[in-house]
Amino acid sequence: MNSKTGSNPGTVREAATAIRRKLQSLKPRLAIVLGSGFKAATDAVEIVSRMPYRTLPGFQTSGVPGHGGELLVGRLSGVPVIVCSGRIHYYEGHSMETVTHPVRVLAALGVQDLLLTNAAGGINSNYRPGEFMLLTDHLNFMGDNPLRGSRTASSSPFIDLSKAYDGDLNKTIQRAARTTRVKLHRGIYLAVSGPSYETPAEIRAFRKLGADAVGMSTVPETIVARACGIRVAGISCITNPAAGLSGDKLSHDDVLKVGSQSTQTAVKLLSRFAEYYGDTVTG
Ligand code: HPA
Repeated sequence: MNSKTGSNPGTVREAATAIRRKLQSLKPRLAIVLGSGFKAATDAVEIVSRMPYRTLPGFQTSGVPGHGGELLVGRLSGVPVIVCSGRIHYYEGHSMETVTHPVRVLAALGVQDLLLTNAAGGINSNYRPGEFMLLTDHLNFMGDNPLRGSRTASSSPFIDLSKAYDGDLNKTIQRAARTTRVKLHRGIYLAVSGPSYETPAEIRAFRKLGADAVGMSTVPETIVARACGIRVAGISCITNPAAGLSGDKLSHDDVLKVGSQSTQTAVKLLSRFAEYYGDTVTG
């Protein structure tokens, strides 16, 4: 298999089988993908199994600092969960299939709800670094779509994205933000392919188009999850004002620094979300 082209139905099944062996009696219906700024959430997980991505069929390891790669199975606030700590990015040169392979594997494992987290640049002038944004919708400016050339004969690639981010999951996250006193904006995430940051002219254009934050991930995973019938929610950690909105130059190191400063807040938010999520699915 070419390392840049990744996923196929056989590899998805193989990875799912490998993970299923490690689930013990857990049947997680919730999965969380941890992006920059959210990694410490793994500390709050009561871990049952830990699988480095390099041991899982079709999973690529990220070469980008701050994006380790392992899949954890365990409990967060008592709720069975699969955590993908780190993601593979399109900007690393991988295909959309490879980038979204973990989501197809989660679907094969019976996951029904997926929380995607990321770091993003703030476009909305009310957003400050270290604050969070709940995704209400997205703009796909990656110039590609993970369902292009989709090989699944059984399902149509023409999926509806009019409610890409789930209203009930969003309510649960907002409630978690209220009770933990975490500042959570609601806004639209615009995805670019990267890896270069945007120009100030692009950011001005994106603002006019309605974007509140900009990042280089998440949208492909959302699209594939929706194609698999999984409910999706997304949270961005705003790590910097987007290009041209402050006098500062953008750097990946600064993005990681702000991400790590906000990480304890992210852990509180995700743990409380899992607690309330558990109540909604069992109660
Ligand atoms: N642009 C794109 N991706 C990002 C940014 C940004 O300003 N900050 C964090 N991820």
